[in-house]
Amino acid sequence: VTIGNAEFQFVRELVMRETAIVLEPGREYLVESRLTTLARREGFQGLEHLLAKARAERDSRLLRLMVEAMTTNETSFFRDAAYFEAMKRSVLPALIERRRSEQKLSIWCAAASSGQEPYSIAMLLKELAPALGTIRPSLIATDYCQSMLKRCQDGAYSQLEVNRGLPSKLLLAHFERHGTEFRVKDELRKSIDFRQLNLAAPGWPTLPPMDVVFLRNVLIYFNQQTKKDILAKVKRILRSDGVLVLGSTETTINVDTTFERFEVDKAVFYRLRET
Ligand SMILES: C[S@@+](CC[C@H](N)C(=O)[O-])C[C@H]1O[C@@H](n2cnc3c(N)ncnc32)[C@H](O)[C@@H]1O
Repeated sequence: VTIGNAEFQFVRELVMRETAIVLEPGREYLVESRLTTLARREGFQGLEHLLAKARAERDSRLLRLMVEAMTTNETSFFRDAAYFEAMKRSVLPALIERRRSEQKLSIWCAAASSGQEPYSIAMLLKELAPALGTIRPSLIATDYCQSMLKRCQDGAYSQLEVNRGLPSKLLLAHFERHGTEFRVKDELRKSIDFRQLNLAAPGWPTLPPMDVVFLRNVLIYFNQQTKKDILAKVKRILRSDGVLVLGSTETTINVDTTFERFEVDKAVFYRLRET
């Protein structure tokens, strides 16, 4: 490892301050490999030049690119398929019935990454069109990273990306081929409202009350206090009978006891305990 301790501390504090993501000691290799890629892309001679400039000048664009480079954006279409099956068969139909008189259903995908998750949700809603009837669902997708939001908005995926989890039936129905890329059709793309939102910011922009919140594979990067703060804010947005969806390895247990878990087949969901 060539990155020095002072450099590592600088990056660690920057990333913590901006996103609350914890970079544990021992993650020097990760900082080094990701920022080396960034340095090359930005035309620096090497990582040390990028770090020297960042520390001396506090160039806000460069600092932002560094933070974005340190986020992990791993995702796929219909990740943990059992969750989407359960949503389609049971969770969403039940919610839709309860919202029939209001004619509204609001869904928030809070760590959208490159878009595979919000587009999976949007495709699910299309499949549920008969059940929705005249209800017009609203889907908001947010992420910290501007670069990821750009990818969401572009809605263009490689063969490798569509091979990960996207059934061919849905690929045919919702995507158009352009050279080596598969682009989400306009109709689906326009059904999602993409916005920047930092989950770690003290205040969140105003969001409508939500029926479903997807907060998947993002709490894992935060410390216990940040997890508590974020779940407390989710609680204020989630409707009393709404559903919280976490990643398959995550839980609210030991973080926030006002949520209770419920299972649908192999998928685990969370809702607010009745008080
Ligand atoms: C591993 S991806 C998860 C993507 C998707 N939810 C899934 O489960 O496949 C984590 C995402 O969380 C985002 N993220 C990290 N810290 C964040 C923060 N403080 N505010 C908002 N998004 C954040 C990252 O930019 C990244 O796109």
